[in-house]
Amino acid sequence: MRHHDTEPATHRDLRDPATHPELREPAADPVSAQAAELRAAAEPRTAAEPRTSAEPLSETELAARLRAAGCVFAEDEARLLRLTARGPAELERMTGRRAAGEPLEHVLGWAGFDGLRIAVDPGVFVPRRRTEFLVRAALEAVPDTAAPVVLDLCCGTGAVGAAVVTRLGGDARLHAADLDPAAVRCARRNLHPLGGRVYEGDLFAALPAALRGTVHLLTANVPYVPTDDIPLLPSEARDHEPRTALDGGPDGLALLRRVAAEAYDWLAPGGTLLTETGSHQSGAAAGVLREAGLTVRVVSDPELPATVVTATRR
Ligand SMILES: C[S@@+](CC[C@H](N)C(=O)[O-])C[C@H]1O[C@@H](n2cnc3c(N)ncnc32)[C@H](O)[C@@H]1O
Repeated sequence: MRHHDTEPATHRDLRDPATHPELREPAADPVSAQAAELRAAAEPRTAAEPRTSAEPLSETELAARLRAAGCVFAEDEARLLRLTARGPAELERMTGRRAAGEPLEHVLGWAGFDGLRIAVDPGVFVPRRRTEFLVRAALEAVPDTAAPVVLDLCCGTGAVGAAVVTRLGGDARLHAADLDPAAVRCARRNLHPLGGRVYEGDLFAALPAALRGTVHLLTANVPYVPTDDIPLLPSEARDHEPRTALDGGPDGLALLRRVAAEAYDWLAPGGTLLTETGSHQSGAAAGVLREAGLTVRVVSDPELPATVVTATRR
């Protein structure tokens, strides 16, 4: 299958404790006590001790099941499932869902993103690790102002807004919006503890009018997969994430054009819009934002890989 920019990188990274110290060290995590119980329960048995239905699957057994179902990072997934499940019955249910092809993050109920644990409900777009680059670019673009206003449009779980305001510290004021009621519910769970407000509706129409002209950072990870490429996505995306979260229209830029048409008016002078694109789309995306009167830059991180267009109101 052709490599696609929207292929989930999240799963690989979630499973990689080297890049996720918060996963490597569960000592401070509420699930750690249960993990210890599970580990104790998984001590080797003698032949005279038959397995009971109350006993959890061992990590090795779990990994074998996941590997047989085609999970490439079976050992790491097995560890995460055991750390997250609240008992043997739930572990069994979660393993079944994962083996049937549900994204790991939907099964766990969370995704690691920029060092945060973000709640992810079934049917909501799973934040990708590559999008952490959008967060880094946003932090470089924030104007020197006391209490920056951050707007996360097309927020999904709210991962981007959560990461940006967490890194900015206490002063930032966060607003987020999405069209999908399931995403809005999920974003409220993630963002209310950070003081964020989450609105439901179509792009800027969801927002209070008082925000117009006040936004210092506008992150908009809009859907950008060209419609004809949707069938090329991995089934975890095609079958478990809403099409409205993926489909960017014929050239992948339909939503970005709509955002660009209004962005200038919602940004404060000196404010910056940041959007992720596929590397092959970045020139066209930059053109769309330039035509909207914004000063544009394209930045990328080849390692992730990730490409972001920044567009500033001068
Ligand atoms: C690619 S996902 C990004 C989600 C999140 N920002 C992230 O990076 O994880 C795109 C999101 O845009 C939302 N969306 C699609 N069309 C929209 C519209 N017209 N207005 C608001 N949100 C929309 C989808 O529901 C989805 O949550």
